[in-house]
Amino acid sequence: MLAMNYRGPQRVRIDHKPTPEILHPEDAIVRVTRSCICGSDLHLYNGAVPDTRIGTTFGHEFTGIVEDVGSDVTKLKVGDHVLVPFNIACGRCAFCQQELYGNCHESNPEATAAGGIFGYSHTAGGYEGGQAEYVRVPYANVSPMVLPPGMDPDDAVMLTDVVPTGYQAAEMGGIQKGDTVMIFGAGPIGIMAARCSWLFGAGRVIIIDQLDYRIEFAARYAQCEAYNFRDIGDPVVFAKRTTDSLGADVCIDAVGADAAGSAMQTLTGRKLKLQSGSATALHWAINSVKKGGIVSIVGVYGPTDTLVPIGNVVNKGITIRANQASVKRLLPRLIEHVQNGIIEPKALITHRLPLEEVSAGYRIFSEKLDHCIKPVLIPPSARM
Ligand SMILES: NC(=O)c1ccc[n+]([C@@H]2O[C@H](COP(=O)([O-])OP(=O)(O)OC[C@H]3O[C@@H](n4cnc5c(N)ncnc54)[C@H](O)[C@@H]3O)[C@@H](O)[C@H]2O)c1
Ligand SMILES: [Zn+2]
Ligand SMILES: [Zn+2]
Repeated sequence: MLAMNYRGPQRVRIDHKPTPEILHPEDAIVRVTRSCICGSDLHLYNGAVPDTRIGTTFGHEFTGIVEDVGSDVTKLKVGDHVLVPFNIACGRCAFCQQELYGNCHESNPEATAAGGIFGYSHTAGGYEGGQAEYVRVPYANVSPMVLPPGMDPDDAVMLTDVVPTGYQAAEMGGIQKGDTVMIFGAGPIGIMAARCSWLFGAGRVIIIDQLDYRIEFAARYAQCEAYNFRDIGDPVVFAKRTTDSLGADVCIDAVGADAAGSAMQTLTGRKLKLQSGSATALHWAINSVKKGGIVSIVGVYGPTDTLVPIGNVVNKGITIRANQASVKRLLPRLIEHVQNGIIEPKALITHRLPLEEVSAGYRIFSEKLDHCIKPVLIPPSARM
């Protein structure tokens, strides 16, 4: 089969690989119909995630047709069109029982943090990803869901990560009616967090990025205020100025380890790798939130240390909430929101590329070329 193949930082190509087979009675094999590239893939692409092995296939946001099922799979049958949440969850460990599907212990027993994730390095279990023609889906009775009748696969693929992550970013912010929510990062995740913040009762939503085309898109799509941090001066001073010196009630980090904006963070986090990425956006979030406020982190960082103003967290009495999104927990309500037109996820898809052009897809998304917000890869069989 055709599959994306990681060859080292900033080098990916399309290759032939063996088609996956059922390895366990609860496995399903899915023929991919849509597969997105995510900001999280860029951390892998940039070599920021430990134990990202040469030859692996990325891709944790995909939909596909069930081609084969193991003998214990009862919830799916051959021919079903499914959306597959990015978390690999067993459904029965202590963490899955608490609906912490992003922290499943059984799917990634060697780790103490994240559970298994498709195509996300051996730190996330070493599973092959969906930027391929076929993918093996473990625990097929637990998370994959048959597409609801009439749902566009372009909307469905966005429900595997972007919509739940944006929604959970807002949810973890504990937004109260009328709150000012400040979101760092106007990528798909930040844009979706902005849109969802209104659903929790925000009174004001402000999004910050450095790319004018994304700022304009976010302002339009999420009906929020949007600013370029290259224009507003120090974003922390800006946050104070625009909130009567109090700071935002809730700040969301939707950037993570590849943040720009601080030469020191970029040098130590991205170039020298002395910390697990550049923590510029998180730094700004902590310093921009009001005393007693909440900082919600969905931006991804590596497992090692990160340089943030922890003293300010203590002295301001900030609550920090963070996690990988728990996709399965959120799907029922988010499917309803999509069906009722409250969220229109496919509007974020700006680029549709054949799977064979995966290398161009990474370059366009990584370098933010051609006004790219979200690229989706389409394998040959889904283009017929
Ligand atoms: N927790 C989860 O479950 C989960 C799921 C999906 C994605 N993520 C993470 O969310 C983050 C965003 O993902 P994405 O797909 O939107 O990525 P993206 O790369 O498309 O967007 C990131 C945006 O941040 C902007 N940015 C860079 N530095 C900034 C700064 N200092 N302040 C404000 N904006 C800045 C960039 O210009 C870019 O537009 C990534 O870290 C990704 O790994 C987390
Ligand atoms: Zn993703
Ligand atoms: Zn589990």
